[in-house]
Amino acid sequence: MKEVQILATGSYVPDRIVTNDELSTVMDTNDEWIKTRTGICERRITTGENTSSIAAKAALKALESSYIKPVDLDLIIVATATPDCYTPSTACIVQDIIGATNATCFDISAACSGFIYGLNIAYQFIKNGAKKNVLVIGAETLSKILDWNNRSTCVLFGDGAGAAILGCGEEKGLIEIHTGSDGRGANLLKCNAASVDINNKDLKEKIYGNTEDVDKSYLTMEGREIFKFAVKAMGETIDTLLNSSELTIEDIKYIVPHQANLRIIDYMIKKLKVDSKKFYTNLQYYGNTSAASIPIAMDQMNREGLLEKGDKILLVGFGGGLTWGGTIIEWTINKNK
Ligand code: ACO
Repeated sequence: MKEVQILATGSYVPDRIVTNDELSTVMDTNDEWIKTRTGICERRITTGENTSSIAAKAALKALESSYIKPVDLDLIIVATATPDCYTPSTACIVQDIIGATNATCFDISAACSGFIYGLNIAYQFIKNGAKKNVLVIGAETLSKILDWNNRSTCVLFGDGAGAAILGCGEEKGLIEIHTGSDGRGANLLKCNAASVDINNKDLKEKIYGNTEDVDKSYLTMEGREIFKFAVKAMGETIDTLLNSSELTIEDIKYIVPHQANLRIIDYMIKKLKVDSKKFYTNLQYYGNTSAASIPIAMDQMNREGLLEKGDKILLVGFGGGLTWGGTIIEWTINKNK
């Protein structure tokens, strides 16, 4: 049976940079607080772009660096917590922008683990022969669902998109993949879907009764609980992947974690007793871009020439849901591609 490989990567971040210092001019925060608690120095914010447009830009970059044409794609999966619309899917809008007329398209919702979930779905489709060339995108415009009056959450996130094209080949690519969920923690990191805009209070009460929930559609988070969950989920996912692949941490050249918070990553470095260089980070420049964080990091590593053919990398994510997941990949892209 053919192996499933990553054939190309791409990413896109908006031009607009918002530094911690700039945030401190519009809210009661400061660079020192944000940097010491999270490691984040700046983030990118979309101005006049939505999730589908930044997702399509990342996809086009991946296509440009591959031999795959848009019409060769037969499946597009977009992982996002910030779709353009309830319907159509962001994947269908991306399909139209990039001209991938032969693809089946759908979105998935797995928060910051979304890209790993997407890789897993793509893997299954390719492995069983149902699809050949699959585009997986993690894309977010989180700035649109942030409560900019809540300094505890709004300083943490940013916008961006990352993409990978998967296909089949002879050499081993995706070696091991693992995902999990725990809906008991659903309230720890949440954004309500309903966005009811009824200014008339009497009318609103008549329709919905005395509920306050209908118009809260911004991101809320129990930061400390998420921290505990994150380190547990990352540790267990890494152990599971290494055990089932019969590899050791020394076999892994880079761990590419979900870019949420440098303190979470530092905790993992100590727990695993590894050199900090084994963990790739770029959250300093982009903040937490949820489903986009891992594919943006992977694309940057690819373009910076950090990855040699044959290197083994481990991607690991965790997020709202609660969800988590990881994969070990043997890199199959030639450096000069
Ligand atoms: N600037 C200045 N002060 C702030 C800010 C800010 N941006 N935000 C909160 N504070 C203040 C609070 O008001 C509070 O002040 P008080 O003690 O006077 O009441 C104090 O700082 C501590 O606030 P906490 O919310 O308790 O801060 P905490 O120490 O828990 O740090 C953080 C918050 C960094 C988010 C932490 O909980 C954490 O590391 N969580 C990990 C999870 C994470 O990073 N989540 C983000 C992504 S989730 C995901 O990707 C799945």
